Amino acid sequence: MSRIAIVAAMREELHGFLDDMGRSAVKETRAGREFFVGEIAGHEVVAVLSGIGKVAAAITATMLLDRYGVGAVVFTGVAGGVGDGVRVGDIVIADALVQHDMDARPLFPRFEVPLTGKALFAADARLATLARDSARQVIANDLATEVGADALAEFGLDAPRVHDGLIASGDQFIADAGKAAQLRADLPGLLAVEMEGASVAQVCADHGMPLAVMRTISDRADVHAAFDFGRFVEQVASRYSHAFVRRLLDAL
Ligand code: ADE
Repeated sequence: MSRIAIVAAMREELHGFLDDMGRSAVKETRAGREFFVGEIAGHEVVAVLSGIGKVAAAITATMLLDRYGVGAVVFTGVAGGVGDGVRVGDIVIADALVQHDMDARPLFPRFEVPLTGKALFAADARLATLARDSARQVIANDLATEVGADALAEFGLDAPRVHDGLIASGDQFIADAGKAAQLRADLPGLLAVEMEGASVAQVCADHGMPLAVMRTISDRADVHAAFDFGRFVEQVASRYSHAFVRRLLDAL
């Protein structure tokens, strides 16, 4: 497959990939972003932090497509779970993404991105299936090795589930159960919220570029998200991301 972009939302999530690239990694700094170009599992890879929020992520995605000529984008990070049964430690793989703060009514229907005729932007079906299979394989066989039994026990993650469906992105950190419930009501089938994926999906759609978005649930988008977020990202989410995306690269 052609060059693959691995886009992470948090610095901790890039470390495993940089280790994999080893000496092949070349760092280029552009527009305040560090792009690491190298090789993993026989694939040419560009790894970069997205920045936080839709604009930062759209700029990053555009650069990956225009300057780095990638042929596919894999986005990994954390999200707030809003769907029924979507728990902390679960994995959500997007089959479609929507910008929940897009609202140009009465000119256009709510959520529709003006002049595209679309509210929902599809992820690439093949990549999404491979991502789901990779996550399931790692969870079934290698989770304790990849993440560490101590961390799994500490966060009560004995049996994470893999969900696929709708992810919504907006320039808001959702920490209010009422707001999460409203989003769930307004967007049937909504599983999780985050702040970047749907803008990357819009950029990829404009370029006809395949995209997979794979998120670990770090909180339930309510006021109880008061556990140690930093430690969760470092000890769980970043190791999940690395293990799943590595498995995905092996499968491509
Ligand atoms: N990323 C992780 N949790 C989130 C939340 N609750 N809202 C938005 N983005 C998130």
